[in-house]
Amino acid sequence: SNLDYASYLKGWIRTVPDWPHEGVMFRDITPLLQNPKSFRVLIDLFVHRYMSEQVDLIAGLDARGFIIGSVLAYELNVGFVPIRKKGKLPFTTVAEEYVLEYGNASVEMHTDACKQGDRVVLIDDLVATGGTMIAGYKLLKKLGAEVLEAAAIIDLPELGGSKLVRNEGLPLFTVCEFE
Ligand code: PRP
Ligand code: ADE
Repeated sequence: SNLDYASYLKGWIRTVPDWPHEGVMFRDITPLLQNPKSFRVLIDLFVHRYMSEQVDLIAGLDARGFIIGSVLAYELNVGFVPIRKKGKLPFTTVAEEYVLEYGNASVEMHTDACKQGDRVVLIDDLVATGGTMIAGYKLLKKLGAEVLEAAAIIDLPELGGSKLVRNEGLPLFTVCEFE
């Protein structure tokens, strides 16, 4: 069942205390990606969730959302578009600023990355404060996309981000949680 997959996958996530700074418990997905079985179980879980939906496009968030998002897009036979950190995309862009713990950040998409009415699933690895996922959602809406759902491997519910995402009206699917 999906619950068995969730605890199996959670077991492949490594916790690194005090990284990138003291007090942060960093949830590291690299062991999950490195092991071929857990990587496949993860991707298959997302594929089964979306294969019978009418999905036109997968949008992935810089940078860990690219790893999962591109493989998922390939498996669903749909295209992939990157939502990048500011200053990386060469063509004309739309941008959305959001607030970090200290200061601001900004993400961008190419203006032709999706068109009015495209049915999009938005992918990242983890939801913390929710700022990144919500900024990506706003960009997709600016371009007229219909965002079916946001999906991530990990939710950190204590940081409140998953609630904020859902309060924006964006359904959110996550595989597992860490306190
Ligand atoms: C991490 C993570 C999410 C975001 C979640 O990315 O991969 O994208 O933070 O945080 P939030 O919910 O508080 O916005 P990071 O900015 O560290 O970039 P990276 O993927 O390039 O490592
Ligand atoms: N991004 C924001 N918070 C994080 C955490 N605790 N682990 C991994 N990535 C993160």
